[in-house]
Amino acid sequence: MLRGKHIILGVTGGIAAYKTPWLVRDLIREGADVQVVMTRSATQFVTPLTLSTVSKREVLMDLFPPSTEEPTGRWTEHIDLALWAELLLVAPASANTVAKIAHGLADNFLTTLILAARCPLVVSPAMDVDMYRNEVTQANLVALKEAGCHIIEPESGELASGLKGPGRLPELARLIEFLEKILTGSTRDLAGKKILVTAGPTFEPIDPVRFVGNRSSGRMGFALANAASQRGAEVTLVSGPVSLATPRQTTRIDVRTAAEMMAAVDRLFPEQDALIMSAAVADYAPATIAEQKIKRDRSGSSGLSISLKSNPDILKALGSKKTNQVLVGFALETENGLENARKKLSEKNLDAIVLNDPGVEGAGFETATNVVTIIGRSGSPRTLPKMSKFDVANEILNEIAPILKSVR
Ligand SMILES: Cc1cc2nc3c(=O)[nH]c(=O)nc-3n(C[C@H](O)[C@H](O)[C@H](O)COP(=O)(O)O)c2cc1C
Repeated sequence: MLRGKHIILGVTGGIAAYKTPWLVRDLIREGADVQVVMTRSATQFVTPLTLSTVSKREVLMDLFPPSTEEPTGRWTEHIDLALWAELLLVAPASANTVAKIAHGLADNFLTTLILAARCPLVVSPAMDVDMYRNEVTQANLVALKEAGCHIIEPESGELASGLKGPGRLPELARLIEFLEKILTGSTRDLAGKKILVTAGPTFEPIDPVRFVGNRSSGRMGFALANAASQRGAEVTLVSGPVSLATPRQTTRIDVRTAAEMMAAVDRLFPEQDALIMSAAVADYAPATIAEQKIKRDRSGSSGLSISLKSNPDILKALGSKKTNQVLVGFALETENGLENARKKLSEKNLDAIVLNDPGVEGAGFETATNVVTIIGRSGSPRTLPKMSKFDVANEILNEIAPILKSVR
């Protein structure tokens, strides 16, 4: 199933590196063309000679050739290879390399190549149980997921140290199965579909330094963009002001105000197959924006009143314009949730609405998890347990995937 596929295997300094000659052999048996890239530490566990022999290609490791070496003409090999690759697998991925990727470091051939690669990146962390459970490692793995990398969870069992727990490199067959799924498209059910996702808050200026905003972190929308892109969709993400990394293989457009978001979405909407409006667009904006910073009232306690005007309702506007696009809205409700969400669904001509209540533990803004109810066209609600925003994103996509298949 991997016939002719260009795969880069990045091997780092973990004990499980000793299994990689078998991994290379199995990938080649499946028909893949494999280029191995090692870190210096990896050579302590398996030799470049072994991996060169089984892959029938010279293993690459050094960004800078030794000064004594004849010029090879291969100065930008890390970029050339990044473009050649159809999939990049790091296995085993050491805690150190996971941290470097999560922070965008490019201090050796492998990490530089990873930063330049456009293809899917699959990371298979393998390490001691405490290194794996360490909060920093876990945060790095979450950051990688949020940036659109595929993480193969390690298996649990007896580790090289004698300790037991998660940290083992999975069986090679499982690793290969995972790659096949990505490359052969069985998880790419949204391939060929264009999906527009909005995320984050909008900031409505009061004066040059102040704004009216909300606490949306943008994580739900970024998770949606990430999940849709991993499932093969061509994703455009229109984001309000957030501090999140752009998921791999998505186009991001930054906006600040509801009016800017409206303009961007309106322009892009006609060519989309679906629009998922997860942004928390401000309902109101200051009626006038002071040209200069509003000064503190020196005379006493009269306070300051700001008059607000209604912002455009982006979803409603597009709901009335839609031809055959799939439209998904979000409803953040603190009371009469189901009733209000169903009303929005029909009033705004939506195909599905995602309801959440910020009062529920683990739901709403600023959390890594969410607790939602998805209501489809039929109106029957599907309440999901607390799960990561990435998993919620996939559930939302599962809801619209069958409708999308019948569109266009
Ligand atoms: C015997 C031994 C085994 C190790 N096994 C692992 C491992 O399984 N996973 C890991 O993350 N680090 C492991 N390390 C530590 C890494 O080799 C070390 O963090 C190194 O800096 C990783 O470099 P790299 O990410 O550039 O390959 C091991 C170290 C030693 C001495």
